[in-house]
Amino acid sequence: MPERDLYERIIEIAKRRGFFWPSFEIYGGMSGFVTFGDLGTRLRRNIEERWRDLFIRRQGFLELSTPIINPSRVFEASGHLAHFKEYLVECSRCGRRFRADQIIEEETGLEYVEGMTVEEMVRIMEEKGVRCPECGGDFKEPIEFMTMFRTSIGATGKETGYGRPEAAQGMFINFRRGFELAREKLPFALAQTGRVLRNEISPRKGVIRLREFTIMELELFFDPEEPGCARFEEVAEEPVRILSEEMQLKGVREPVELRLREALEEDLIKTVWQAYFMGLSKRFVAHLGVPPERQRFRAQLPEERAHYSAQTYDHEVLLDRWGWVEVAGHAYRTDYDLRAHAEASGLDMTVLTGRGERVLPHVVEPSFGLERLTYVSMEYAYRRVKKRTVLSFPRDIAPTNVTVLPLVTRDGLPEKAREVYRLLLDEGFLVDYDEKGSIGRRYAKADEIGTPIAVTVDYQTLEDETVTLRDRDTWRQVRQKIEMLPGLLRRYLRYQLDFQDLGEELK
Ligand code: GLY
Repeated sequence: MPERDLYERIIEIAKRRGFFWPSFEIYGGMSGFVTFGDLGTRLRRNIEERWRDLFIRRQGFLELSTPIINPSRVFEASGHLAHFKEYLVECSRCGRRFRADQIIEEETGLEYVEGMTVEEMVRIMEEKGVRCPECGGDFKEPIEFMTMFRTSIGATGKETGYGRPEAAQGMFINFRRGFELAREKLPFALAQTGRVLRNEISPRKGVIRLREFTIMELELFFDPEEPGCARFEEVAEEPVRILSEEMQLKGVREPVELRLREALEEDLIKTVWQAYFMGLSKRFVAHLGVPPERQRFRAQLPEERAHYSAQTYDHEVLLDRWGWVEVAGHAYRTDYDLRAHAEASGLDMTVLTGRGERVLPHVVEPSFGLERLTYVSMEYAYRRVKKRTVLSFPRDIAPTNVTVLPLVTRDGLPEKAREVYRLLLDEGFLVDYDEKGSIGRRYAKADEIGTPIAVTVDYQTLEDETVTLRDRDTWRQVRQKIEMLPGLLRRYLRYQLDFQDLGEELK
């Protein structure tokens, strides 16, 4: 049997252990949708919470929750109705439809086809003989396809609505209220996490390309005359691997490593706030387990960029099967969106600055895809140790904090173990209880779903109220009093303690 690649192995664990699986399975499935099970839901939520902590709570920014369905006026004004389109090609034999740029990339190995004109795509398809991957048929001429989901709002059928393809417009159309809530001072930011919808033409990358996914997005509003970022020094010396627009146009494929301060000095990044968020982004993704050499920031070429962007750096991560995959976009949206909504609504979106002048703020936006990051965290957590699979998630991301195991299912050990389980539940931990099978098999299961600590209740527990704690990554064990567990575990999960600080080591 051919060796399964890493993607297949992760997908197999994801389905078997209930992280995620394809949606609508009982009706034959529908690509572009995934359903998250219990472990996946918790993993995804923990990553979202980590993002919220880093990008909202610690920054003092404001969080919103705005509607997913928006009236068409919003997307007419924002430019999405005119621009949120892709080219599709239809097979003249079997009638299957594909996104033109993606089918060219898949069939030819070329990169960044998205930015090409339709004429260029047609030329490449002819030159390279690109045919339908399903039946080998010829493709018809590419046609435009609007990738927003359309619906009607209410019973008259006259009010057209669209599923939002980004959360950002919710922040822009609430800008005036947000500014008041931010005590009428620039800079400030509005953020939100939530579902977005994109009617992808033929998504064929499982959880990597979805029609419905969760975005974590932040709009930072600043005075274009005073674009400084007081927090930049916190990340200024952070090295990042950058592939700028200019480098790509010269045919350079390898990124250059620069400190963020240097990248700004060399004008590779247009605004200080954008550089600041790129630094946070690198640290966030590194915390999820991706080493620096497997991360890069690639500037989108002008033809690739969204209509609102003056510069976008894709934060990309190297994946085993899919190559470099975007997990976040860092866009400089200028005043494009506020200007558009001011014109369409007739409302003034300018604000009075500390300099006593009215300005239309400029915007920098970091935007992350949560489901992709969830998959990325699984791929980077994956280890094979002595023929076992271990998902070495960061402690504060792991879907389960701790599992409680009675050594055997007799002599009062399960009862004692349930007491420990309830204690940890009451203390707010994500905790499992497992008494099925041998202790070795239960450790193996805990490792495979990435539980950092296993607590075992044995005969000694009945005598002295101590338990063993086992480390998922080293399989070392220490012994500790039950009453000490909540405090120690809490600090361990926050990386305030090392494993050996949790108790006395067992030889
Ligand atoms: N707001 C980011 C995006 O639409 O991708």
